[in-house]
Amino acid sequence: MSNLEKKEMEIFNSRFSNSVRDLEASGIRKIFEAAGPGSVNMGIGQPDFDTPEHIKKAAIKAINDGFTGYTPGPGYLELRNALSNKFKTENEIDVGVDEIIVTSGASEAIFLALSSLINPGDEVLIPNPGFVSYSSTVKILNGKVIGVSLNEDMTIDVDSVLEQINPKTKALIMNSPGNPTGAVESEENIKALAEIATDMDITIISDEVYEHFIYEGVHKSPAKFSENVITVNACSKTYAMTGWRIGYAAADVKYIEQMGKVHQYVQACANSIAQKAAYAALTGPQDSVKIMRDEFLKRRDILISGLKELQIECNVPKGAFYAFPKVENCEATVQKLLKAGLITTPGTAFGTNGKDHIRLSYACSIDDIEKGLEIMEKVL
Ligand SMILES: Cc1ncc(COP(=O)(O)O)c(C=O)c1O
Repeated sequence: MSNLEKKEMEIFNSRFSNSVRDLEASGIRKIFEAAGPGSVNMGIGQPDFDTPEHIKKAAIKAINDGFTGYTPGPGYLELRNALSNKFKTENEIDVGVDEIIVTSGASEAIFLALSSLINPGDEVLIPNPGFVSYSSTVKILNGKVIGVSLNEDMTIDVDSVLEQINPKTKALIMNSPGNPTGAVESEENIKALAEIATDMDITIISDEVYEHFIYEGVHKSPAKFSENVITVNACSKTYAMTGWRIGYAAADVKYIEQMGKVHQYVQACANSIAQKAAYAALTGPQDSVKIMRDEFLKRRDILISGLKELQIECNVPKGAFYAFPKVENCEATVQKLLKAGLITTPGTAFGTNGKDHIRLSYACSIDDIEKGLEIMEKVL
């Protein structure tokens, strides 16, 4: 390195915060950037459906009616009322309007939860492999990521959680149905983890954005079994609204108050128009959710039986819209598939224990799934 380069490096290093400077760009984005035109895309993390008409109409009405200013920080009262009702009827959780905060996607809710809980050096237990944002957010906040091993069926290994808890442990993140694995936690596991949270005084952040895309088993919220739970959810996946940026969190008021302070300064409030759309989504007809769920199930079955024919080992995902088959050397495999015209995601993007897997999203057409399988047959 020349003296000039050394000097530039010193300036760069002293200018930016250590935690952000050392953060790696998302492994998923890198793949998309390298993909050729016309590639089959099985790397997608969002429903390939349009937002239902009645939701769009509610947003247009909100604009015409002048709902274009700031809303109350935690969100419109009518929306929080609808969410309180949703939690009661769908999740059997009793939360009042002051125990709910509307955020800019589930992503902001996760950030608010973690930033209100952790001091530098505090430990957060995260499923390994798990959704990319969890570990990155902990790192931005100077916390320490502790990977939790998964069982054969990709559910959380309760013993691994117990073994890793120490006085520095602040939180455990759960995500059922899970990204990238499609695993659905059993009620027994959820109860056991909720009891651990209560007994050891740690907080569970339960990310439930895929709750409506379950094909086997039922969705249970840990908040039903413990008060130490921040439940995170969003309209993003359920109503094909990823770009609208409406998420929400529910928890005891002591959590929501702290999270609300961060929200006030980083976001002020969630988008006013999208909040009106979210109200229409939650209180209007729910048939679009079932249509998407049934379609994903059909696609899952085509993908899983195709993988079986190719003798590619894969757990049958019980939820979400991802399969997580086993491959050798995931990063080289992803590159080979990419060259042959198929976009997938290496398991390592989700944690070290993902190294023998790739993530395949089936939020794409059946035609694309079939083309994807043909490419896999040639390449693997
Ligand atoms: C498990 C999980 N949580 C949260 C998110 C982010 O949701 P949102 O778009 O509402 O911020 C995603 C997006 O892919 C996800 O897979």
